[in-house]
Amino acid sequence: MWDDVASVPHVGLARWADLIIVAPATADLLARAAIGRADDLLAATLLTATCPVLLAPAMHTEMWEHPATRANVETLRSRGVQVIEPAIGRLTGGDSGPGRLPEPTELMRLVEASLQPTVRDLEGRTLVVSVGGTREPLDPVRYLGNRSSGRQGFAVAERAHTRGARVTVVRAHVEVPTPVGLQVIDVETAEQLHRVMLAEQAGADVVVMAAAVADFRPESSAATKIKKVDDQEPDPVILVRNPDVLMDLVRDRRDGQVIVGFAAETSASTDDLLALGRAKITRKGCDLLVVNDVAGERVFGQPVNDAYVLSRSEDGPTLLAHVSGSKVEVADTILDEIAKRLPARSG
Ligand code: CTP
Repeated sequence: MWDDVASVPHVGLARWADLIIVAPATADLLARAAIGRADDLLAATLLTATCPVLLAPAMHTEMWEHPATRANVETLRSRGVQVIEPAIGRLTGGDSGPGRLPEPTELMRLVEASLQPTVRDLEGRTLVVSVGGTREPLDPVRYLGNRSSGRQGFAVAERAHTRGARVTVVRAHVEVPTPVGLQVIDVETAEQLHRVMLAEQAGADVVVMAAAVADFRPESSAATKIKKVDDQEPDPVILVRNPDVLMDLVRDRRDGQVIVGFAAETSASTDDLLALGRAKITRKGCDLLVVNDVAGERVFGQPVNDAYVLSRSEDGPTLLAHVSGSKVEVADTILDEIAKRLPARSG
């Protein structure tokens, strides 16, 4: 860069590239890119680039989780840089945790997905997507919660937005940053989620229930913290049923509206998983059901997913697709099926 200043290599490289991927992206590189340093060829090229940029972080877990790195990642993402989640596994030096560079095949998949021209096939459509896990209070400090990082729901929302849709996210508790460009309504409990989803359904072309909703809530929530008393057994917690949001959305469905449910199941085999999925789509009555096997930490909080997409039809449930890949790829497969089902627009 400094030997051949006249040819400005960083400008040449940045203009020539269709996409830039930095793999591995160190904590130091993330920090330097976030503040816009330009003191070596890589940093200067990143600062000049207008093409898509993909950063694949790799570092020790402590560095990845440090607030400084978290802030840098958020800054980069807010500018449209795709900072992917590192894999969880063996790190340099022998310890393990989040921070491992994803496998080259996974990186290649992301590169290919980033280079796909984006079809704006959802232009003018309105999507409502619920994400995250609800929390049902027991007392002011405790709750019954449902596991869900929000990643898959956010991927659907983000890709729908990129494909032209107006997207409202109804956000329960999530563990990852919310993508930019979406309208957000926060909720805490299943009952709040129920109220907001039914209200938002009225103006929506598509409703996606990606949230993990608590089926039960404590009958009452104590006004003050429940204290333990020596030598006394705790009071049992009485649970009552929550409404089934998805079934009520299906009941109130308006003409042409597409309703999508998710099913997180634990099963011994793919056949069992699909049997559970078929029974669930029939019971819930939604148009599409995305089924995944969540046994053994394979899905929750991970950037990748392995999902089956089922549809409801007159002859019974049909398996439309099996997609194994990033949550973005799963989101695109779901949106492809949604787009096929939307009625053509008049005028
Ligand atoms: N769901 C909902 N309201 C509930 C429970 C679930 O809207 N009270 C939605 C979820 O958002 C998801 C779908 O229903 O889209 C399936 O959720 P799941 O927890 O798999 O189904 P359940 O009805 O809880 O069935 P089961 O407990 O028998 O597995």
